[in-house]
Amino acid sequence: MPKKPPSAAPRQPSPPQRASLPAATDRRIDALLTLLAENSTIIISGTKIAKEIGVTRHQVRHWVDRLRALGVRVKGHPHEGYHIERVPDILVPQMLSHRLYGTPFARRIHHFFKVDSTNTVALRLAEQGEPDGAIVLAEEQTAGKGRGGRSWVSEKSAGIFCTILLRPPIPPAHAPLLTLLAGLAARDAAAEELDIAPDIRWPNDLLAGGRKFAGILTEMRAEPDRVHYAVVGIGINVNQAKMPAELAGTATSLRIETDKAHSRLELLIRLLRAFDGYYNRFLEQGAPPILRRFAEVSSYFEGKRVRITTASESFTGTTAGLDPSGVLRVARDDGRGTEAILSGDVAEDS
Ligand code: BTN
Repeated sequence: MPKKPPSAAPRQPSPPQRASLPAATDRRIDALLTLLAENSTIIISGTKIAKEIGVTRHQVRHWVDRLRALGVRVKGHPHEGYHIERVPDILVPQMLSHRLYGTPFARRIHHFFKVDSTNTVALRLAEQGEPDGAIVLAEEQTAGKGRGGRSWVSEKSAGIFCTILLRPPIPPAHAPLLTLLAGLAARDAAAEELDIAPDIRWPNDLLAGGRKFAGILTEMRAEPDRVHYAVVGIGINVNQAKMPAELAGTATSLRIETDKAHSRLELLIRLLRAFDGYYNRFLEQGAPPILRRFAEVSSYFEGKRVRITTASESFTGTTAGLDPSGVLRVARDDGRGTEAILSGDVAEDS
């Protein structure tokens, strides 16, 4: 059976998932890492560490060892204290929270060193009543989900694996705009790392040099007239030195494109701030600012030769803008008029 092509519309997850949540990163690990990273040039005494992270002086060594077991290099200085040898690029919640102050994302950051999928965790949190603006982050995903039932390769600490939980006051028909605005935010954040502006292949594949380096998977629970919640999962290939052989022709990372490593923390902060800006504009003004911005930055908006593959057919045509709910219009080559693409794969037709 051919695989069902991905849909532009957010997919409805399978029935509420009652499984218990995996354990998030311990807040003492979070606090210790933040303390050491924010004071990386000095030795911090055991007494100060104990006070700051809320453990006894006696337990400090245990927590430093737990941090070391996660791959963080901490040097001990007898009778003096500890200092971090190299600040790791870990998406430390406390540090992120300081930097995201003023956005809704500063308050509820769920961080995991390893998880199946940040979207799956976010869906469970949503079912348990977690509020709008919560984010789920992972250093590694063991079952990262891509569009169309595909998987998303999620190598440890190489990419950004982030899911945003939203409870937007919109009907489900407008939900594809959430995916579009997430793509715009990721595009703007990544543009600062690249020499050449990235492209967006509708609805939300980010391309550099024609190869994909980021994608978005939105899942939601909705009734016909309102969205209960949507989880917007964003995956960005950041520091992968090379892609798996089977993906190398079509996928890339920021590091491959620029020949240098990038800070995932800084990129994520820019992404979430940009998302906040687009999302607020969307809630205040509706689709027009999102569609206008998409037209500015995506070569797929209008006049692009494309091949569309849906569940039932494959045809070529030329893109002819987006409709108000973010659906792509394509003027068919076979004379059968202009088609609204709700679900399907879009590829450049060369
Ligand atoms: C695509 O196929 O283009 C969408 C990829 C989405 C991947 C991200 S990584 C974070 C979040 N968790 C998942 O399991 N998937 C999304």
